[in-house]
Amino acid sequence: MRVIVCNDYDEMSRKAAKLVASQIVLKPDCVLGLATGSTPIGLYDNLAQMNKRGEIDFSEVTTFNLDEYYPISPDNEQSYRYFMEHHLFNRVNINKNRTHIPDGTTKDPESECAKYERMIEESGGIDLQILGIGQNGHIGFNEPDNNLNTVTHLTNLTENTIEANSRFFEKKSDVPTRALTMGISSILKSRKIILLASGRTKHKVVRELLNDGINTSVPATMLKVHPDVVLICDKEAYSDMYLGVDIGGTSVKFGVIDGFNNIVFKDSIPTHKDMPAKGIVDNIAAQCLKIAQRFPISSIGVGTPGIIDFDTKTVSATNLPFDKAPVALWLKEATGLNVYINNDANCAALGEAVAGEGAGENDIFMITLGTGIGGGIIIDKKIYTGKHGDAGEIGHMCIETDGLPCACGNRGCWEKYASVSALIAQTEAAAEANKDSILANVIKDDCVVDGKTVFKAMNMGCPVAQKVFDKYIDYLAIGVRNIINIFRPGLVVISGGISEAGDRLLKPLIQKVGSDTPIKISRLQNDAGIIGAATLGKNAK
Ligand code: F6R
Repeated sequence: MRVIVCNDYDEMSRKAAKLVASQIVLKPDCVLGLATGSTPIGLYDNLAQMNKRGEIDFSEVTTFNLDEYYPISPDNEQSYRYFMEHHLFNRVNINKNRTHIPDGTTKDPESECAKYERMIEESGGIDLQILGIGQNGHIGFNEPDNNLNTVTHLTNLTENTIEANSRFFEKKSDVPTRALTMGISSILKSRKIILLASGRTKHKVVRELLNDGINTSVPATMLKVHPDVVLICDKEAYSDMYLGVDIGGTSVKFGVIDGFNNIVFKDSIPTHKDMPAKGIVDNIAAQCLKIAQRFPISSIGVGTPGIIDFDTKTVSATNLPFDKAPVALWLKEATGLNVYINNDANCAALGEAVAGEGAGENDIFMITLGTGIGGGIIIDKKIYTGKHGDAGEIGHMCIETDGLPCACGNRGCWEKYASVSALIAQTEAAAEANKDSILANVIKDDCVVDGKTVFKAMNMGCPVAQKVFDKYIDYLAIGVRNIINIFRPGLVVISGGISEAGDRLLKPLIQKVGSDTPIKISRLQNDAGIIGAATLGKNAK
């Protein structure tokens, strides 16, 4: 089976329409097998437009639809005859006498089915069959069963199909419980088959189709014996989905990513860090379960502050009540999903490496400038944690002997000079020492000092602010140079709130570092953590 994965429903519909159009151009009197349901509507729209533009001519085309509810009259809006008239036949120059749909009004279903089968044969057989796929793997209305009917027949619809199709009816009890449908071998006799699948509700069955063998409990797997089937699906139907959880001091962010690193859903809840560790994790688990009900999640990846003991899989963090907390185990127990965990700065680096600025690099080093300085080392697109799980603590490399004391117990740590907190302290000290400066006045007016204050004062031409900034860049550059000298990565990525300054930070930094190793600002910013966390699960497959 050939597989074409499209970005979305529209692209899937356009690609399918091109294939159908080629068939009609190649053989103007071809026989098409058609499907109903929501999936082929976009395909029919495209065909109608192509016909209107004169690109394809339906005048000699013959069609056979896969199925029809039973009993139902053709003028019932829910009948497949009505559907086809509305979505295709009334919009193109097709001869209606050449369009065939099983007769839902027949008193004798058995002879109607035999007649339908005969008519397909007499027409020369189907050149190109369009199929949708049910969530339970049905094609046409060939429902999962121990024995599949080969030819056109009357069948009972399963509860799953009635439920899925009830969206087209006022109430579920209005959905007919039976249908006339082409059988598996009627379908397999077609010369060529296009199977369409769109949206995340089809993801599970597409996985079964592509991964599992041939099984009557997933009737679509029968298509694997056919030599010319192309599955055209969108990313949502094709791709596995992974949940990334980024635990922070104030909020926990959640993101669902697909196999192509696109974020398909985002959410967040407050962390409530005054609660015990188990309570925090229970809240996270409840949210994960809610998300897993909406998306076919394969695994959960978690980025957390603190240090992870990879032997015991426990987390200890200073700014959260995690003291050897078995976060991954608790989450796994509560959700039943596999859970992977790593430090949040490492996850952000991984996210940037797979989906951000580092997408073209194997080895990157990410520096997060915030209250402290975090580091994430990616080697060969994988997180390097070191033997004890805490590699990359670059905020604590010493850049000044007998320098400022740090909470870690040492002196002169880089984060005491180059973190955003350090920049704020340097800004405050300079304003204090230069009470008449523009910088001091900006602080007086704003009543607050943050990472942006120095930039604001520089904009107003303040030489004091410029001096603070130049010194800050000196400090930042020392650390970045050290990192480059030790790791020589393909790329250094700077993230954290201050990186919003963009080129105003980057250009002087690059100049001061004076290396040919590229230095860039994080492209993903706050999303890097959830993408990286989700990638932990994706990489573990
Ligand atoms: C309809 C048909 C069905 C649908 C299937 C998917 O003629 O044969 O097998 O293709 O139920 O329906 P949608 O596209 O609505 O998800």
